[in-house]
Amino acid sequence: MSFYEAVGGEETFVRLVRRFYEGVADDPLLRPMYPEEDLGPAEERLRLFLIQYWGGPRTYGERRGHPRLRMRHFPFRIGAAERDRWLVHMRAAVDDLGLPAELDRQLWEYMVYAAHSMVNVPEEA
Ligand code: HEM
Repeated sequence: MSFYEAVGGEETFVRLVRRFYEGVADDPLLRPMYPEEDLGPAEERLRLFLIQYWGGPRTYGERRGHPRLRMRHFPFRIGAAERDRWLVHMRAAVDDLGLPAELDRQLWEYMVYAAHSMVNVPEEA
């Protein structure tokens, strides 16, 4: 069974990403970074990416091609502060899923790793 199936499939990722973007919508640091007025399309892209990453349908790739996530984030200034806000909203969203501890740990470990790898400005002194 894929991780995608183990955590409950599409429904789980719908909930995860919806909750995450509710946090972003009210965040004074992150919200202005999103180029579009409507966060819906960004929500869908993140959802489809995560579904594909964890072994679900590969719709993200069909629509967007190779993820190249670091490259796609270069237009945005992501320092430690932005990364940490992103992780605050993601932690709240993961908490809401109420996953078994081992699945929660795996998901969270990836989010922390991925968020750190997206930082593209040097650490503020
Ligand atoms: C796109 C911000 C980390 C996955 C975006 C966009 C912004 C953004 C502003 C453009 C919105 C759009 O799609 O139109 C950030 C910030 C991060 C962060 C501030 C802090 C570290 C991550 C991480 C992941 C991720 C860790 C994956 C686990 C994506 C995906 C897209 C995206 C899949 C859409 C890419 C595409 O164009 O297909 N992000 N992001 N982001 N982000 Fe992030």
